[in-house]
Amino acid sequence: MKPPKPPRDSKLAVDEMTERQAKREHARLEAEIKQHDERYYQKDAPSVSDAEYDALRRRYEQIEASFPDLRTLESLSRKVGATPARGFAKVRHAVPMLSLNNAFSVEDVTDFVDRIRRFLNLKEDEAVVFTAEPKIDGLSMSLRYEDGALVSAATRGDGAEGEDVTANVKTIKEIPQRLKGTSVPQVCEVRGEVYMTKAAFLELNERQKAAGKQLYVNPRNTAAGSLRQLDPTVTASRPLHFFAYAWGEMTNLPADTQSGMLKWLKGAGFQTNPLWKIARSTDELLAFHHDIGTERAGLDYDIDGVVYKVDRLDWQERLGFVSRSPRWAIAHKFAAEKATTVLRAIEIQVGRTGAFTPVAKLEPVTVGGVVVQNATLHNEDYIKGIGKDGEPLRGGTDIRIGDTVIIQRAGDVIPQVVDVVLDKRPKDSKPYRFPKKCPCLLKTDVVREAIAGGEEGARARCTGEFACPYQRIEHLKHFVSRRAFDIDGLGEKQIELFFERGWVKEPADIFTLEQRNRTIKLEDEEGFGETSVRNLFASITTRREIAFDRFIFALGVRHIGDTTALALARGYGSWKAFHDACLTLAKGDEETRHEMDALDQIGDTVIDALAAYFGEAHNLGIVERLTKQVRVLDAEKPRADSAVAGKTVVFTGSLEQMTRDEAKAMAERLGAKVAGSVSKKTDYVVAGPGAGSKLADAKKHGVAVLSEDDWFKLVGRSP
Ligand code: IVH
Repeated sequence: MKPPKPPRDSKLAVDEMTERQAKREHARLEAEIKQHDERYYQKDAPSVSDAEYDALRRRYEQIEASFPDLRTLESLSRKVGATPARGFAKVRHAVPMLSLNNAFSVEDVTDFVDRIRRFLNLKEDEAVVFTAEPKIDGLSMSLRYEDGALVSAATRGDGAEGEDVTANVKTIKEIPQRLKGTSVPQVCEVRGEVYMTKAAFLELNERQKAAGKQLYVNPRNTAAGSLRQLDPTVTASRPLHFFAYAWGEMTNLPADTQSGMLKWLKGAGFQTNPLWKIARSTDELLAFHHDIGTERAGLDYDIDGVVYKVDRLDWQERLGFVSRSPRWAIAHKFAAEKATTVLRAIEIQVGRTGAFTPVAKLEPVTVGGVVVQNATLHNEDYIKGIGKDGEPLRGGTDIRIGDTVIIQRAGDVIPQVVDVVLDKRPKDSKPYRFPKKCPCLLKTDVVREAIAGGEEGARARCTGEFACPYQRIEHLKHFVSRRAFDIDGLGEKQIELFFERGWVKEPADIFTLEQRNRTIKLEDEEGFGETSVRNLFASITTRREIAFDRFIFALGVRHIGDTTALALARGYGSWKAFHDACLTLAKGDEETRHEMDALDQIGDTVIDALAAYFGEAHNLGIVERLTKQVRVLDAEKPRADSAVAGKTVVFTGSLEQMTRDEAKAMAERLGAKVAGSVSKKTDYVVAGPGAGSKLADAKKHGVAVLSEDDWFKLVGRSP
């Protein structure tokens, strides 16, 4: 074999690269890193030093920081250190690591407080006490202590499963190996943020520079990179710190407030952030946000907002969670960073559902330390200066190619074009004409329809559905994405290649690839080798058994995200039950519609989408061929240990000890289904005073009727 010629791009500094050079260099680095990984992990025969390997990874990540488009879902940097094969074992979190909802405005904060008051049904003179804490911009970490000793440390990962980084975490001096004090719970999972100080980051970069090495992007990424070193001595050489602010599994809670827990954590030997305060009103929360905002630049660590949490833990418990975030806490972010640049072109992206998203191609500009060249323009109306309710946006100003525009980037959110500098508009500019045809060349007409939730106004869509190659390929990419089938080594790039060659046209084809490889001969393709092909087939095989919720999500039915998929999976328990229900639903059966409607988080939009999907012969074929290849596992039942797990409950009348929302949330937490009306399938009707027809229905169907007190006795807890 001829040795490959060293590509010129490998000599270029990242900030001098054009988009094309960056793309090539990114691909080259990816291939090289994968090769080293394979030598290291599968053959135990590394051919480069750790330092050289780290440099490759850093350059790869720097390119992505400057050219964010290259950071696809399949990027190695998302898997960092990451793919299980790369050395870190997976750890399932006993209590999931969830995220926080964001507030960006005073109104968002007011809403947050109002919602809490309503949910808890508080009297006007009853105050809610909050803790207000800085939101540290690092990496969240869960530390498990058993009998006071640190036994494991895990990254957040996808919230359910993280990576075991115990050996590395043990090198962080601020993390106690043993907890102090006498009242230490037997199992104690402490959560918080690992971070690097700004000073340490600058110093590290000074050293890199002096040694003529690549510079790191920001303290957060550097801290993440440092933790994911496979060699703990490298982690040990990096100055990492830790602030504790939350917990997971605990055999007992040493305090009954968030503030009490922060004090306990400090006493147990952790650093807690010293700036936290108690706030007793919305005004006090906002004052904290303002004060910390002014202190921000002077702090020695990055923060990206503040977090408000209901102080009383019994109230936190009552408030519970909605989907992935607690109702009792919110992150109030600092204002987004803005920059001015020129809009060079507008490109149309076609999504999985055929929806068009106009993307602004910009003169590259740095916003918050990252080079941005693409930003979203949302939809046709947005470009025209029309808001979602028809009201004028930006004073009715449209956006034109050649305009000088203001773009904004906040945290992980996709950058967006927010305004136009009209004074700088070129004299000969013309209004932008939104395409009437899909770029898929099917020349399908474009229709406009409202996006569920109305967030983005009317969106243009290609009606080609699966016949539109853009949609088909997006479906396939979705199918293998992280929250769906998540097949190692089968990412967007591979799907594009397999689709182009005609090897994979629909999901089932992925599972017959190995069998067909005798003629395809994947190992002869550029970028593949015998080992990587073998690994690919091995990871495809492991996915022949798939969790029920992942499977539903992977089908890519419109409006069904991963949380909805989970709600459906839990509601139906098995693929067969769900599939049967969907088929009956598609035939217009009202009872099935009713039954689905009774499930938590499922409403008309989702039911209509399921009916449409399963009413389409083409989709049925896709599903049938796929289920011949894979086995869908039954859903895990939530809280099977509770007395009401799996039961269907109806609440009626005016409840006195809890609000209706609260009752529903509690029942669902205990694994019950909450229905809106009584049928023969109902197990319990919980009736407060004033209950009417539902009580009569209960009698008719012979359903047990409980008072609120009976309910609390049944589930073994108090309101
Ligand atoms: S509380 C149930 N408190 O922000 C969620 N999070 O956007 C418990 N973070 O994943 C999180 N500082 O990594 C909490 N004082 C703080 C925090 C904080 C930073 C991070 C954390 C979390 C993310 C959510």
